[in-house]
Amino acid sequence: MPSRRAFAGFLSAGIGMAALAACTPENAVPSPAAANAATSTPSATATPSVAASGVPTSDPSVVAPAADPAPTSAAPSSSAATQHSLTDPTSPWVVVNKHRPLNPQNFVPADLVQPNIRLAVSGEAALVNSTTAAAAEKMFAAAAAEGVIMTLASGYRSYSTQVATYNGYVAGTGQAAADRASARPGHSEHQTGWSFDIGDGGGACSFQPCFADQPAAVWAKANAHKFGFVVRYPWMFHDTTGYFYESWHLRYIGVEAATDMAARGIATLEEYFGLEAAPDYL
Ligand code: DAL
Ligand code: ZN
Repeated sequence: MPSRRAFAGFLSAGIGMAALAACTPENAVPSPAAANAATSTPSATATPSVAASGVPTSDPSVVAPAADPAPTSAAPSSSAATQHSLTDPTSPWVVVNKHRPLNPQNFVPADLVQPNIRLAVSGEAALVNSTTAAAAEKMFAAAAAEGVIMTLASGYRSYSTQVATYNGYVAGTGQAAADRASARPGHSEHQTGWSFDIGDGGGACSFQPCFADQPAAVWAKANAHKFGFVVRYPWMFHDTTGYFYESWHLRYIGVEAATDMAARGIATLEEYFGLEAAPDYL
């Protein structure tokens, strides 16, 4: 029986009851409509994972994105001018997953700010790092110019907030389902400041599979890369990312890399950076 306190913590983390429905394996099974709105494409599915091309660098944590194995297609990433660390949480390319916890575990971004966008939350959940905030402002404005309303539904989460969030999921759904929907403390991208969840101001499908069919998610899937964002947990890639499809969870990696991923049909950061899949905790 979940404790009332744990569940209250879950709610106060800004996730809401509706999220529980999105956590169950049953609800994670695709509806045809959701499949149509899926992030993954046949080419993305078919693209084999290849080793990082290993651009010479003195920092072993800095690698170039995986080279495109198709010799006939351009691989702009291989000549990307700027490379970033995959381990430093201040890096836009930091990869945090079930095999790669934040280091340090209690990391707090130094430049958290509240973006000037439509907010569905307050307090720390309305914050992201300054680079992500600037990109989000541009993206939300571009969406609005096309008549698409987006809200910031959940931004930064401290380590302690993630404790409450994750424990709420465990109390509500059990640990196995929780681990497919919510990161354990110290393993959430939300703690980096580089990620946030979007809503659409309506809320009926917030944090649920049907959000994939809402204009905000459809627009984000098609356009987020132009502003440096990727849909971090795409459809049917839970064996790579560790999480079921989250059409609402966007992650900033920079315009160049996000556009490169989109152009090459690469769905996950794990594949893009030539990292191992992280379906489960080690
Ligand atoms: N829902 C994502 C995986 C998180 O908890 O960070
Ligand atoms: Zn999220």
